[in-house]
Amino acid sequence: MTEKPMVRFDNVSKRYGALTVLDGLSLDIARGEKVSIIGPSGSGKTTVLRMLMTLETINDGVIWVEGEPLTHMEKGGKLVPANLAHIRRVRAKIGMVFQSFNLFPHMTALQNCIEAPITVLGMKRKDAEERAAELLNMVGLSEKKDHYPSQLSGGQQQRVAIARACAMRPKIMLFDEVTSALDPELVGEVLQVIRQLGREHDLTMLMVTHQMGFAKEFSDRVCFFYQGKICEQGPPGELFGAPKNERTRQFLRAVLEAG
Ligand SMILES: Nc1ncnc2c1ncn2[C@@H]1O[C@H](COP(=O)(O)OP(=O)(O)O)[C@@H](O)[C@H]1O
Ligand SMILES: [Mg+2]
Repeated sequence: MTEKPMVRFDNVSKRYGALTVLDGLSLDIARGEKVSIIGPSGSGKTTVLRMLMTLETINDGVIWVEGEPLTHMEKGGKLVPANLAHIRRVRAKIGMVFQSFNLFPHMTALQNCIEAPITVLGMKRKDAEERAAELLNMVGLSEKKDHYPSQLSGGQQQRVAIARACAMRPKIMLFDEVTSALDPELVGEVLQVIRQLGREHDLTMLMVTHQMGFAKEFSDRVCFFYQGKICEQGPPGELFGAPKNERTRQFLRAVLEAG
C-alpha cells in the first residue's frame, strides 16, 4: 500500500460571494515534500494556505491531513463539517509563518516562543523555555531572546516567527511570502533558516514565494497558480526550464524582467 499523502486537497472550492477564488483544487503533498506555489497576485495562493491553516472555511470539497479529514469529520460513515475540537486537534499538525511576522509586540522573542506551547500544548514553563532557547539558537538568535520585536530587525523578527511556529512541533509548515516585507539584504538570512529547517527536520513544507531562485533550488515541486487553479506544476527544473503553458511563460518572463 502506498503511503497516504500528508496533505490532500480534494476538489476544494472557495468563494467570496460571486467571486470564485479557488476552483475545484485537487493537490496531494507527500510526507516531507517541499512544494512552492507561485503565480500572479490574486490567483488564490494565500487562500490555499489560509484554508489549510483553517483560518478560512471552504465551500466545497474536503481537505485531508495524514489521511484524516481536516475540514470534516466522520459520523455514521459520512463526512460532516468538523466541529471546533476536531479542527483544533488536526490543525495542531500545521504551523504557519506570515509575510508580516505577526509577533506579539509586548512579548520578548523567548516569550513569543513559549506562549502557545504552554497554553495550547500544556507544556511546563521550564520545558517550553528550554525548547524555545534551542529553536532561537537554531535560527541564530540566542543573543536576542530577551529582546522585544520592536528591538529586532525585520529579518530577525521573521526568524523568531519561524522559531515560534516550530515550537508547536508541527509536521507541516506553511510560509506565505515570508521574505516579501524584508529589506533585500535581510532576505538571505531568512531563506537560510528555511533551508536548514528543510534539511534537519522531517517537515512537509508548502510555501508561497516570489523568490524564484529559492523555489528552484529548494522545492521538490513548483505549482503555478492562475485564477484559482493549478495551471501547471512540475519539478522546478522543468517548470522554470521548459514551462509548457503560455501563462506560465508569461508570468516567469514578467517576474524575471522585474529582477
Ligand atoms: N476575505 C475576502 N473577501 C473577499 N475577497 C477576498 C478575501 N480574501 C481574498 N479575497 C480575494 O480572493 C482572491 C485571491 O486572494 P489571495 O489568495 O490573497 O491571492 P494571492 O495570495 O494569490 O495574491 C483575490 O481576488 C482577493 O481579492
Ligand atoms: Mg498572497
